Amino acid sequence: MSLYELRGVSYRYGRNGQAVSALADVDLDVEAGEFLAIGGPSGSGKTTLLNLLGLLHAPDAGTIRLDGRDASALGERERTRLRRERIAFIFQSLNLIPVLTAYENVEYVLFSRPLSSAERRRRTLDALAAVGIADQAGRRPQCMSGGQQQRVAIARALVRDVGVVLADEPTAALDQVTGRAVMDLLKRLNRDRGITFIFSTHDPRILAAADRVVHLADGRIAS
Ligand SMILES: Nc1ncnc2c1ncn2[C@@H]1O[C@H](COP(=O)(O)OP(=O)(O)OP(=O)(O)O)[C@@H](O)[C@H]1O
Ligand SMILES: [Mg+2]
Repeated sequence: MSLYELRGVSYRYGRNGQAVSALADVDLDVEAGEFLAIGGPSGSGKTTLLNLLGLLHAPDAGTIRLDGRDASALGERERTRLRRERIAFIFQSLNLIPVLTAYENVEYVLFSRPLSSAERRRRTLDALAAVGIADQAGRRPQCMSGGQQQRVAIARALVRDVGVVLADEPTAALDQVTGRAVMDLLKRLNRDRGITFIFSTHDPRILAAADRVVHLADGRIAS
């Protein structure tokens, strides 16, 4: 059974009159443990596809199966629950909270879980250590470099231990060397922890780091 199975998936923005077709008739299988890139020019549908994989939108047509379950058939509440159990996001705008330290930015996503404070602390420190910034735990995002902030966002995605991480242009805000280091880190976490990473990029050098690339053009899979 594949992790994801998409069949005939289409998505349009805007309901009345001027609807924009963002994805059309996409078929895609993703296996657990893959390190998969989504490439394609601006406007080709990369972010839309990640949002659908993240169960943030329901497709207008077609089906999305996650762990064999038809997510498109679930109600809003069930879909939200499945998302929380299985999927973490790293957004391009990292969504770090400026008044919180790196430690607190990672820890707060665990507050919705029934964990003891000691267990929460252990997991938070483990996630910060996994991305190599345990020594920065007490710093706030604005006192950190772009690459360090990206690591906080990655730690926050890891700490929930969900198995699937979706990242929209995770290196776009970084210089080449830092971007490369972040990709090496994601690849190591993929290899060592078996986490599935699906990320978008327009950077050919970043695409080259993927095990497999799905190219989008005008909302369709080109290759
Ligand atoms: N909120 C929205 N409302 C209307 N149309 C949208 C919206 N978001 C995206 N679109 C349109 O859907 C299509 C796909 O957009 P999407 O953001 O998925 O592309 P992308 O490949 O992520 O682009 P980029 O590389 O610039 O981030 C584009 O034609 C875009 O204009
Ligand atoms: Mg995008």
